[in-house]
Amino acid sequence: MVENLFVVRAAESRDDAAIAGLVVEGFLDKFRPVFGSRMDRTVKIMEKWVRLEHSLGGVSSLVIEGSGPEEILASVGIRIGSSDDDALARGLWRALRRHLGFVRAGWAATLLSYPRYVANSSEAYVERLVVSGEHRNRGMARALLDAAEALARESGKRTVGLHVSGGNAAALKLYESYSYEESSRQHSLLTGYFLGIRDWLYLQKEL
Ligand SMILES: CC(C)(COP(=O)(O)OP(=O)(O)OC[C@H]1O[C@@H](n2cnc3c(N)ncnc32)[C@H](O)[C@@H]1OP(=O)(O)O)[C@@H](O)C(=O)NCCC(=O)NCCS
Repeated sequence: MVENLFVVRAAESRDDAAIAGLVVEGFLDKFRPVFGSRMDRTVKIMEKWVRLEHSLGGVSSLVIEGSGPEEILASVGIRIGSSDDDALARGLWRALRRHLGFVRAGWAATLLSYPRYVANSSEAYVERLVVSGEHRNRGMARALLDAAEALARESGKRTVGLHVSGGNAAALKLYESYSYEESSRQHSLLTGYFLGIRDWLYLQKEL
């Protein structure tokens, strides 16, 4: 099995910056219109976001290391704990405002609020699955998804849910092969116009 080639481990706080860098690289098309001329701040904002998710959002991250412990090739977040959504939103807003200024922060917060997710205590929510560009198509996403689902099972969850944009063919094919099924979708003219993402599909799988 290809999955056995990679060691998946739980992320530690020292991984936050590397995870943030990977997420920005993997979702560059989405972040560019959000952050505009302030793209240089994106990794810092994302690092803060990842840290807040870990401390307040009930999210754990899993990573695959490269040749050195500082090098992270792929990562995924999985929400299994309870989340203090208000504190999370306040923390993110403060980070956006500090790095972007009030007006741009408002714009970023609006676009980043998609897709909207309402947490469910019997569900694990998978987010920001990303593999570094040069390491794709080697089974790393599969290895992370396997580990995330195992964690969800161990935590007693009954379903796994995730969002994917309607045009993300690679991710859709991956989730389809894992028997995820569309349970709803959000249309957004705003993200359709500015991010090129009109449909956000919510997929679920029974464990
Ligand atoms: C989507 C992504 C995570 C896949 O990572 P990966 O490590 O290359 O995926 P794997 O090698 O584990 O491939 C698993 C399956 O995904 C699908 N897949 C991956 N890349 C694909 C591509 N370019 N085209 C079509 N299907 C693809 C295939 O079903 C593949 O299985 P197969 O090799 O048996 O055909 C990666 O392309 C990525 O990081 N993209 C940017 C971020 C992103 O869109 N994340 C998804 C958020 S919902």
